[in-house]
Amino acid sequence: AAEALRMNVTSDLPVICQVTAKHTAGIKCNVAAFMPEAAGFDGVSDRSALQEFSVSNSESFWAAVARQRLSWIRPFHTVQDCDLSRGEIKWFVGGQLNVSVNCLDRHVHTCPERVALIWERDESGSEVKVTYRSLLEMTCRLGNLLRRHGVKRGDCVTIYMPTCPLAVASMLACARIGAAHNVVFAGFSAEALAERIRDAQSGTVITVNQGVRGGKVTELKKTVDTAVQSCPAVQQVFVAMRTENPVAMTARDVAMEEEMLKEDVVCEPAAMDSEDVLFLLYTSGSTGKPKGLVHTQAGYLLYAALTHRYVFSYHDGDVFGCVADIGWITGHSYSVYGPLANGGTTVLFESTPIYPDPGRYWEMVQRLKINQFYGAPTAIRLLLKYGDEWVHKYDRSTLKTLGSVGEPINTEAWEWYHRVVGDGRCPVVDTWWQTETGGICISPRPSDADAEIVPGMAMRPFFSIKPTLMDTEGKVLTSNDVSGALCIAQPWPGMARTIHNNHQRFIETYCRPHPGYFFTGDGAYRSKEGYYQITGRLDDVINVSGHRIGTAEIEDVLNQCAAVAESAVIGYSHDLKGQGVYAFVVLKNDVEVQGAALCQQLNNMVSKKIAKYACPDFIQVFVQRLPKTRSGKIMRRVLRKVVERDLDGVGDLSTLDDPTAVQEIIQGHGDLCGKQP
Ligand code: WTA
Repeated sequence: AAEALRMNVTSDLPVICQVTAKHTAGIKCNVAAFMPEAAGFDGVSDRSALQEFSVSNSESFWAAVARQRLSWIRPFHTVQDCDLSRGEIKWFVGGQLNVSVNCLDRHVHTCPERVALIWERDESGSEVKVTYRSLLEMTCRLGNLLRRHGVKRGDCVTIYMPTCPLAVASMLACARIGAAHNVVFAGFSAEALAERIRDAQSGTVITVNQGVRGGKVTELKKTVDTAVQSCPAVQQVFVAMRTENPVAMTARDVAMEEEMLKEDVVCEPAAMDSEDVLFLLYTSGSTGKPKGLVHTQAGYLLYAALTHRYVFSYHDGDVFGCVADIGWITGHSYSVYGPLANGGTTVLFESTPIYPDPGRYWEMVQRLKINQFYGAPTAIRLLLKYGDEWVHKYDRSTLKTLGSVGEPINTEAWEWYHRVVGDGRCPVVDTWWQTETGGICISPRPSDADAEIVPGMAMRPFFSIKPTLMDTEGKVLTSNDVSGALCIAQPWPGMARTIHNNHQRFIETYCRPHPGYFFTGDGAYRSKEGYYQITGRLDDVINVSGHRIGTAEIEDVLNQCAAVAESAVIGYSHDLKGQGVYAFVVLKNDVEVQGAALCQQLNNMVSKKIAKYACPDFIQVFVQRLPKTRSGKIMRRVLRKVVERDLDGVGDLSTLDDPTAVQEIIQGHGDLCGKQP
C-alpha cells in the first residue's frame, strides 16, 4: 500500500502541458498557452474573460487549477464549502495530498539535478546550491529524525532559524510527517519566542547554534534556552550548526546534522486532508496578544504556487530571488512554497541590503543571474539614498520582473526601482497581501504584457479575488474614484482558516465587521480606472520597515515599567522605515526619574520583550494624562495630529476630558523633536 501511495502521488506530471489540441480548438491560442486550464472554461477566449471567469465561476476555476497543478493522493469531492459570515472556510474537501511531495518528489522524478535552493549566505560570494534530489534527501532524513523523536501528525514544531536550507527542510519535514510548523522570526526576543511556543503548544523546537547576519553573530541557541525555561511543554530542541562555534548542549538538545546522518533517505509521506493544518504563523493585531494564523494544506499551496507563477511570470529555469526572511509570510509563500511547488529555483537570502556594502542585492543579482527580484520598499528607499553607482556597478540584464511587498511603495522609490534597478525595462509589481491572505491578492500582473502599470499602485485583483470597498456605515461603494475599507467579497483557497485556539477572535476580526465579507483591516482607494491603491491600516497596527506590530503590544510593555502610569503608541510617517514608532508615556505621580535613563530603560524593555524593530524612535515623557474622551478612550487622532504637526487638524477638543493636557503634549513634542532629529 505504501508503494502504491508513493507511485500514485509521484506519477502525476507537473502539468502545464496536459491540455490536448481538441480542447483548445476555437480558443485564441494565447489564453490557453498562458493558462492551459482556460481551454476548459466556457467562453474564455482572452485574458480579461479569464479574469472574469475566475471571479464569477471561482469554483470551476479553482477545481481545474487544483486538479492540474497539485498531485493528489486522493481527489477532492467538493471544491469548496465556505461560509464567510461564520468564518467557516474549507477547500478541496475529501482530497488528500502531501505538501512536501508536491514541492519535492514530483520534481525529483522529472529533474532531480535541478537546483531548488540557492542559499545566499551572509558571507557574500559563498552561496550554496541545493538540488531537488538533495533537498528531498535532507527533508526525508529530518522527517525520520522528527518521527523517531516522537513528533506525530498534528503536533506543532517551532522553528527559530535564520533563512537557510535546513530551515526549509525543517518546514518540509514537518509537512512530510503531518506536523504543523510555527516559524518564529529569528529577530524576536526570548520572551516573544516563548509566548509563541506556549500559544502554539509546541513540544519541539528547531534552531541553530548561532545566527549570522550583516557580519554579526546572534546567539540563537541561547535565546531558545532562555525561552524554553518558561515553556514546560518543550521536550526537545534540535540544534543545527550555522557556525563552527560549539554551544552548550543539555539533555534536551539534539545535534541535528549528526543525528540526521543516521536516518534513512526515504521517508513515507503522510496522507494529509486538504484542511489539515500546514502551519501557524504569528502576526500582530490590534490587541497586545499576537495571533497565530492558521493555514492549511492544499488551498494554501495552490494559491502560493499560482500567484508565484502568474504575478511574477515565473517560467521554468528562472532564478527567483525573494529576499524576505522565512520568519514572515512572504518568506513562506515566495521563498519556499510557491517556487518549490512550481519546481522553481529559489534564492534564500540570509544577509542585509547593505552588507558588506549597498551593492549587495545587485552584486547578488549578477552573480546568481536572478530573473525575478522581490523585496521591500524600506530597503529600496534605503538603497536609493546611497546613490545609483551601487546599482550601475553590476550587470542586471537577467532581471525580468521586480516586485515590492509589505508596505506602500512611494512614487520616488518606485520610479528609482523601475528606472535605475530595472533600467526602465522590467515591470515593477507592487503586490498587496497579508499573512491572512496567504498569497498576493492585488498586483499589476498578471495582465497583458503592455497593460499600464501605475507607480505605487497594486492595481489589479488576482484570479478569483473580488475586492470590495465599504463606506463608514458598512455599505458597499459601487462607483470608482472612492476610498473605503478594503474587503474581499468571496473566499479564495489561500486565505487563513482561523486563529490558533481562538476562532472567536478570527470571526470578530475578519468576518464580523462586514458580514459576508473578509475584512482586511486596510483602507484602499479605487481610481477612476478601477485600479486599487492601498492607503494603509485602519486599525492600531503599524508597519515598521515592513514588519507588522500592534501599538497595543508596545504599550503593554511600556506599561510594565514601574515608573509608567500609562502610555499611547502611534505610528508616524518615517523616511526610511515607512512608519516609525512614537510613544507617549505618562509617569506615575510620585516618581522621580531622569528622562534619558528612563527612555533607555523603556527601549531595553521593548527590545527584550518583543524585538529591536519595535523600539520607539521617540518617547515623549510627561506627567499629565493622555487626551481622552469622557468615556476614557485615548484620542489617538489627536496624538497623531500633534506628531504630524498639524495643529489645525487637531479639531474639536470639546469632547476631551481635560483639554489642557493637549497643550502640555504639544509643548513636549516641540521640545523632543527639536532635540532629537
Ligand atoms: C501592508 C505582508 C501597501 C498592509 C505580505 C497589510 C501593504 C500588511 C502592501 C500585511 C502593499 C502589505 N502596499 N501595504 N503592497 N503589502 N501591506 O501580514 O497594511 O506582514 O495589511 O504581510 O502590510 O502585513 P503582513
